[in-house]
Amino acid sequence: MARFDADRLEAAAARRHNLFYALSANSLTPLEDVIRINPRTWFAAYLPSDLDVIDGMIDRVQKAGYPVFLITCDVPVPAQRLAETRAGYSMPIRPNLRSIMGAIRHPGWTLGTLGRTVLRDRNPKIVNIRPKGGPGLFSSEIASVGGSPHFTWDHIRHIRARWKGKLVLKGILRPEDAAEAARIGVDGIVVSDHGARLLESSVTPLETLKEIKQSSGAMSVMIDSGFRCGGDVLKAIALGADAVMLGRPFLQACALAGRAGLDRAVAILKTEIGRDLGLLGVTDLNELDLSFLKDLRAPDLAE
Ligand SMILES: Cc1cc2nc3c(=O)[nH]c(=O)nc-3n(C[C@H](O)[C@H](O)[C@H](O)COP(=O)(O)O)c2cc1C
Repeated sequence: MARFDADRLEAAAARRHNLFYALSANSLTPLEDVIRINPRTWFAAYLPSDLDVIDGMIDRVQKAGYPVFLITCDVPVPAQRLAETRAGYSMPIRPNLRSIMGAIRHPGWTLGTLGRTVLRDRNPKIVNIRPKGGPGLFSSEIASVGGSPHFTWDHIRHIRARWKGKLVLKGILRPEDAAEAARIGVDGIVVSDHGARLLESSVTPLETLKEIKQSSGAMSVMIDSGFRCGGDVLKAIALGADAVMLGRPFLQACALAGRAGLDRAVAILKTEIGRDLGLLGVTDLNELDLSFLKDLRAPDLAE
């Protein structure tokens, strides 16, 4: 959707810059190809509740050599996306007046992204959503792509027993859920509100990070949603995050300028992180802690 071959471009950029990369299950590039481009790719799965399908997915991802299986837990039912509806966008893709007008107004995208993808793949498919591939972009089956309302902690226990690598849960916003994940033996969590793309109102990941970290035991605690500059990253690290993940900044950099855009986005972020550390008088990210923060709206943050 963002750019022709964006999955490959992003995985390669992450490798050049020594970053990890999470490949969405809703991608068009076979997961087996992406791990060859960057061996530090994680697989971000949307799982159904059917154990046979889950096992098939685990086996496929394990066989491909992925070090980390990340389960997106926060989309048990589809979210309402008004902006997408207003723009005439839907899944499966169905031409309508608005989307056709959009395509005409953006010939670069229509020819360079959609056109090239359809020319190469004929019927582009969500190939990583199920053990043996997935539905085409234009197929009505696609409406069912996502998480499941019947997926529970028992499924996580089952997956923990079968998956040999690192297991990460994404979409945690409550300390109670972090504690349960730790008890099950999960290796890490991503504190996330999915980039504020689900609920109209919710606590933000940054607001709840400190409390979640305290409930996470030895798990790695990552965070995403709304990180846009180096200073944002430093705040999360000071609040206890082990890593920060970014979605749209890299997606948009890739959409605008492909490889060069991704390189530029990483360079901007690295420069900002280095500069802000310097301005704080700190030479190592690990030196950051709560003493560097003062939030006037929530004075207890620095306690
Ligand atoms: C276009 C788009 C598609 C997304 N698809 C997925 C997905 O398939 N699986 C997933 O776990 N998260 C998905 N997300 C959420 C991101 O993984 C991430 O949580 C979010 O974008 C982080 O916020 P940020 O974009 O503000 O950095 C998607 C986000 C966007 C913008």
